[in-house]
Amino acid sequence: MPQETTASPIGRDTPRIDGPLKVTGVAQYASDFHFPGLLYGVPVEATIANRKITKLDTAVAEKMPGVHAILYRQNIGKIFRSTLGKGVNGICIERRPPFDDDIIRYYGQYVALAVADTFESAKAAADAVVVSYAKEKPNVEDKLTADDDPDEVMTSYGPEKRLQSERGDASGAFASAPVKLDQTYVTPAETHVPIELQGTTAMWDGDHLNIYEESQAVFNMRTVLAQMFGLREENVRVITKFVGSGFGSKLWPWTHCPLAVAAARQVGKPVKLVLSRKMTFQSAGHRARTQQRVRLGATPEGKLVSLEHDYVCERSMLEEYHENCGEATAFHYSVPNLRVHFGWARRNIGTPSDMRGPGAVPGLYATESAMNELADQLKMDPVQLRILNEPKIDEGERIPFSSRHYVECLQFGAEKFRWSRRNAEVGAMKRDGLTLGWGVAGAAWIATRDSAAANVELRDDGSARVACGAQDIRTGTYTVLALLTADKAGVPVEKVEVVLGDTTLPLGPVSGGSQATASVVPAVFAAADNAITILLNAATTTPGSPFENRKPDDLAFEGGRVFVKADGPGGGVPFAEILKRANLRRVTGSGRSEGIVGSKEKPKFSIHSYGCHFAEVTWQPEIARLRVNRVVTVTDAGRVINPLAGRNQIEGAVVMGIGMALLEHTTYDPQNGAPINSNLADYIVAVNADVPKLEVHFLDYPDLELNAVGARGIGEIGLAGIAAAITVATYRATGVRVRELPIKVEDLLTSSILT
Ligand code: MOS
Repeated sequence: MPQETTASPIGRDTPRIDGPLKVTGVAQYASDFHFPGLLYGVPVEATIANRKITKLDTAVAEKMPGVHAILYRQNIGKIFRSTLGKGVNGICIERRPPFDDDIIRYYGQYVALAVADTFESAKAAADAVVVSYAKEKPNVEDKLTADDDPDEVMTSYGPEKRLQSERGDASGAFASAPVKLDQTYVTPAETHVPIELQGTTAMWDGDHLNIYEESQAVFNMRTVLAQMFGLREENVRVITKFVGSGFGSKLWPWTHCPLAVAAARQVGKPVKLVLSRKMTFQSAGHRARTQQRVRLGATPEGKLVSLEHDYVCERSMLEEYHENCGEATAFHYSVPNLRVHFGWARRNIGTPSDMRGPGAVPGLYATESAMNELADQLKMDPVQLRILNEPKIDEGERIPFSSRHYVECLQFGAEKFRWSRRNAEVGAMKRDGLTLGWGVAGAAWIATRDSAAANVELRDDGSARVACGAQDIRTGTYTVLALLTADKAGVPVEKVEVVLGDTTLPLGPVSGGSQATASVVPAVFAAADNAITILLNAATTTPGSPFENRKPDDLAFEGGRVFVKADGPGGGVPFAEILKRANLRRVTGSGRSEGIVGSKEKPKFSIHSYGCHFAEVTWQPEIARLRVNRVVTVTDAGRVINPLAGRNQIEGAVVMGIGMALLEHTTYDPQNGAPINSNLADYIVAVNADVPKLEVHFLDYPDLELNAVGARGIGEIGLAGIAAAITVATYRATGVRVRELPIKVEDLLTSSILT
């Protein structure tokens, strides 16, 4: 019998390899690093949201104990603007260098920075800076009407046409459609609120700059900061060892980063600047408010004939961030006539940015809600309506899908949820004195690959090491790299050392857009293959090696052992033996793969993940109490490398979706433009008590168009659609259609199901 080789750990539930470091407090987050002579920076926040500074008085602050500097426009020194590069590079959602002018465009905009020996002294000095303003009433109006913008606009990611997709004659087909739905859905501003606050520690060493930052994209941050300070990229190092979640808020550099760097330059010492929770609501991104009109035309049998998705999203006065609600609209269902169009409404708010499932999450809330309402109008099962409109190809791009199993998601989910027992009549389902409501919604999220490189080492003690400048934003990237390397090197997972989060390592992908995992697969595999090639060469050239005088081509490597191909793996020799014989501590291979993000070539396949959610709510009319009671989620995300972490990602996203449906809402004060609920007591997110048992299933269809493992991303797909499933379930239980998130208890007081 052939000797057993180590079975691949890919696809096996694997606890995170970095877990013990975190629970024992060994893991160092960006602001845990301390340096001799370190000073603290605390920004002064504008207390108006519109117009300008007339006077900035720093006299008292400068004389306070422990204060090293008060920085403002006239003394901060030169900070350049940055520009967008090719692919995922040079991205900065708020490009205006800090203190660039005296104009105030949003509440909390930084107007000065106090630098002192201790955080407390810096805070006291920041509070002692006296700022006078000329102010106007800010525009933080909730109702969004599109501004007058040209048909093609420049966005934070490059130029875009406001008419995003069009085929056939959507308005003509809608006008003559036998069944019509025309509704507007609103999603609020939401804030990311990761547990770890944003912060930068900056240190200069001559013309070299070192940054500790909780970044989701260290290489992009390096590019942007190099540009802002006129440095060569190789003179800037960004380090991110652990991230206490980001949800998109840490993807791109915010204004506090160049502020910390400029302060360190000025005082000649390391400077640490960590935001307060309040500041993160003002100046570190949020999900833009959206208002989306969806028009559906259908035949009485439920075949879609027209789909129009017209939306307006808020943007800041400074920047052109586009909340791309139309991301999934053009391909998700088969419809001959379609039009997707967007507009912007400028507001005196901090710049919105990517938040978990940007665009598609609010977009699918609207379009999936409309599908549910259409099903009710047609008196059809909403699962059947979706299946009936399943497309054969991506009708928006007119290309085939790489791997789409949306119908199977719906069917499998329906079976697990026992959907066939549904009674569609409002208020008809009861259990234990509670009224039940059931709902369903579909999901899609883009799957793509960023450029990535990695080094893989095989070592003479039988261990391996993989290095890549990717980040683990708590999604399990350390473990994914360990699994990929263990698979190729044929060593146990615990024998793989993983090094991440540093721009001195090979180029890592962005940890965003659910693309990190898919991106690192080809780079790690190529690096491992190269290491193995070097090993096989050593095996054939080392005197006394069992393979001496063989050709490398005659040899194979599998399960950590080298053997002669013709003999099969039975008589193999462990790679550690070969290295020891050859007196090599290690062999190192490098690998790199180009991304498909930002590629100019038209893609051959439409690559996305799919999914659906089935939700049950309970309604207790006597006390107007609505609870999410049960959720079944099915996800088609290709091959899942670590199902344990994968389920955890989907569960986390569903928890966030419960918050999106019922709780989350950043509210702006109409008087001064401040986000009012800018703290964790008033900005309510779903917590354990809000969350029922979640059932998560994956289909297992490897998507080999994306990489050799067939893995797509799973970080964001779980948040798409869930709010639409909960709102329609709420309608079934209460009789109230809520089309503006979050559902508030006062919305439900009009329920006819009150007894
Ligand atoms: Mo995600 S919004 O790309 O971190």
